[in-house]
Amino acid sequence: MAEKIVVEIPYEKDLNRYCRELEKGNILFFPSIPFSFPQEEIDFLLKQRQSKAKGRKNIAYKPQADRISNHEGDPESEQRLKEILRAYSERTTRFLTGLLEPYSKEWKLDYTSFRPYQEKGRDLRLRARNDLLHVDSFPTRPLHGNRILRFFTNINPTMSRDWITSEPFGSLAEKFGGKEVSFPKSVGYSLYDRIERKMKLLLRSSGVKLPLRSPYDAFMLKLHNFLKENVDFQKNCRKNYWQFPPHSCWAVFTDQVSHAALAGQYALEQTFLIPVSALLYPEQSPLCVLERLSGRSMLDPALRYTP
Ligand SMILES: [Fe+2]
Repeated sequence: MAEKIVVEIPYEKDLNRYCRELEKGNILFFPSIPFSFPQEEIDFLLKQRQSKAKGRKNIAYKPQADRISNHEGDPESEQRLKEILRAYSERTTRFLTGLLEPYSKEWKLDYTSFRPYQEKGRDLRLRARNDLLHVDSFPTRPLHGNRILRFFTNINPTMSRDWITSEPFGSLAEKFGGKEVSFPKSVGYSLYDRIERKMKLLLRSSGVKLPLRSPYDAFMLKLHNFLKENVDFQKNCRKNYWQFPPHSCWAVFTDQVSHAALAGQYALEQTFLIPVSALLYPEQSPLCVLERLSGRSMLDPALRYTP
């Protein structure tokens, strides 16, 4: 079960310590925001609204494209929102480059999100619900074994953000893998498999938005859905309760630590994709755990996505 590792100044001299804790499945907790965050920017964020388009969970900023999605507002406020999210992304990256040095040379900066909705009682379809325990997986952007590291900031002025966590990926995969959640077969190189892969790549290059999932991604998605749909697990599994107070931050591998957000409004989040090669203990990664348990290769080099 995840433990809370409080990170405060002076930081550990052994900089591997924080990566080690994350890879053990613990949560790094920062009692206050560890970089500058002007109050004027927070006040602006608290006034923003998300578009009501169905299936859109958050306001997203895509650093590579410098583009924002799902925001509801006039062009001036959209521009200002983009500047603030870009600054948050840059400050987070700069701070974690020092704290998580072993990862920073190889990580890929992923999306920044702003979560303006109250999580408690939020009306989402079951598989999109945040208040049901799950490990993260990306349904439309396969990861091919890369890890999902997320850094959160609660900018709510008065309310905590409340989470529960449960067993880590390793024990969930051991408990359910190969039983209720079948292991995908390894990628084969039969004529049929080769044709199927070629067709997918062809469709993808002609603009069809088709996720090129490896067996690893297929399993992670199945496990995500299985956990959310499993009433017995949601009710009876062991749980730890967390409260992240206003203006605190936390970092966690969300593909490893099963988690759910029960309540809270106005959080920011920055995602980093960490290749297995950058981990201190790659053998503990979900990819290696899964390959060990199934005895199968879970990657498909032909469809590999390079972070
Ligand atoms: Fe999640």
